[in-house]
Amino acid sequence: MALSFFKQAKSPIHQRIQSDDASRLRLKYDTYYHIFEKQEGTRVWKDGKEFIMLSSNDYLGLTHHPKIKEAGKQAIEKWGASTTGARLANGGRIFHRELEEELADFVGKEACHVFSAGYLACASAVTGFADRKDVLFADKNLHSSLWSGIKLSGARCERFSHNSPQHLRELLEYEDAKTPKIFVLEGVYSMEGHIAKLPEFIELAEEFNAFVVLDDAHGFGVLGNEGRGVCDHFDLTDKTDVICSSFSKSLAGAGGFVASSKEGIDYMRSHSKQTIFSAALSPSACACAQAALRVLQEESEHREKLFKNLERYRSILLELDLDIWESETPAIPIVLGEKEKVYYFWKALLEKGIYTIISIAPGVPPGKDLIRTAISAAHTEEDLDRIEEAMHHAKSKI
Ligand SMILES: Cc1ncc(COP(=O)(O)O)c(C=O)c1O
Repeated sequence: MALSFFKQAKSPIHQRIQSDDASRLRLKYDTYYHIFEKQEGTRVWKDGKEFIMLSSNDYLGLTHHPKIKEAGKQAIEKWGASTTGARLANGGRIFHRELEEELADFVGKEACHVFSAGYLACASAVTGFADRKDVLFADKNLHSSLWSGIKLSGARCERFSHNSPQHLRELLEYEDAKTPKIFVLEGVYSMEGHIAKLPEFIELAEEFNAFVVLDDAHGFGVLGNEGRGVCDHFDLTDKTDVICSSFSKSLAGAGGFVASSKEGIDYMRSHSKQTIFSAALSPSACACAQAALRVLQEESEHREKLFKNLERYRSILLELDLDIWESETPAIPIVLGEKEKVYYFWKALLEKGIYTIISIAPGVPPGKDLIRTAISAAHTEEDLDRIEEAMHHAKSKI
């Protein structure tokens, strides 16, 4: 009796959960949220079967670096697991300040604030500065963290075609010169691997008096002098008002940062909810990011190896006539256009022990369904041989 009462009382939300197509299809095709029982270098194991990881963003291959692991252990020993609270409430620690100073110095900004996730940092880079009265100009293919920041800001948002300064100019010409304007860009677009046309965007920012926010999650550690990122690559750090990034790519950690002028960071600390109401970066995550940042500067061999691997990987894909969407960076999509083709290609790679990730519309523009891959400095020649063989096999299946 009691049971049937509960059945009748199911809310529309329960019904929505039970009839959700996205979850049903995801579970049916078993494409995401896999669990690996072991990880070593570029290899992961699932149900005892070994795979070469070709979709993580460990660009410099630092995940198992001994100096980074040691730094994390020592930080836990000295500071414990967490500082259990937001910095506004129970204070930051000296290690937060040290990392912030080193990061600011590295990217060429006056100040920096670190967050417990790149997602929070990038959302904060928008909400921390944007006001309801502003108009935001956003590249159509931005990462979800930036869209979250845009939505939360409450400001009007105009989307321009991907990496198109021409379209942005058209939109700007409609606006009142007095309206405060913010451009939201990525340094390297995470899905496509395209480098932002920053010189043209900065020219527009100067002409239309706009403030520029740039998410460099995939350029940081890869491009620019010693991996200082896309702004350094174009020598435009001073003209980019806010740079945000994640630790979960080249720094092989967890967390993120926003860097800007000193007054910019002070302003963000007063206005961003993600900064005010979220717990501080943990001691171990902070120490690992700091150690990785030092490794980046002291051991250039990781970037050299990354670019060597990138050259071979690109040539494997191009010789097979696969469409890599003109990616110029280690984030490389294989565009197949239709979700069925993407699924069979992905499965064929899996059969050959290569782990990649599927990305289909609406995550990517219609007609651009793809396999998203990323090459790492940690991939060995043997890994690349196996990847090459698997790509041939997968190509023959579509
Ligand atoms: C462009 C971009 N920005 C922000 C993030 C968020 O970083 P994290 O995963 O470290 O939270 C990501 C991660 O996927 C990203 O690709």
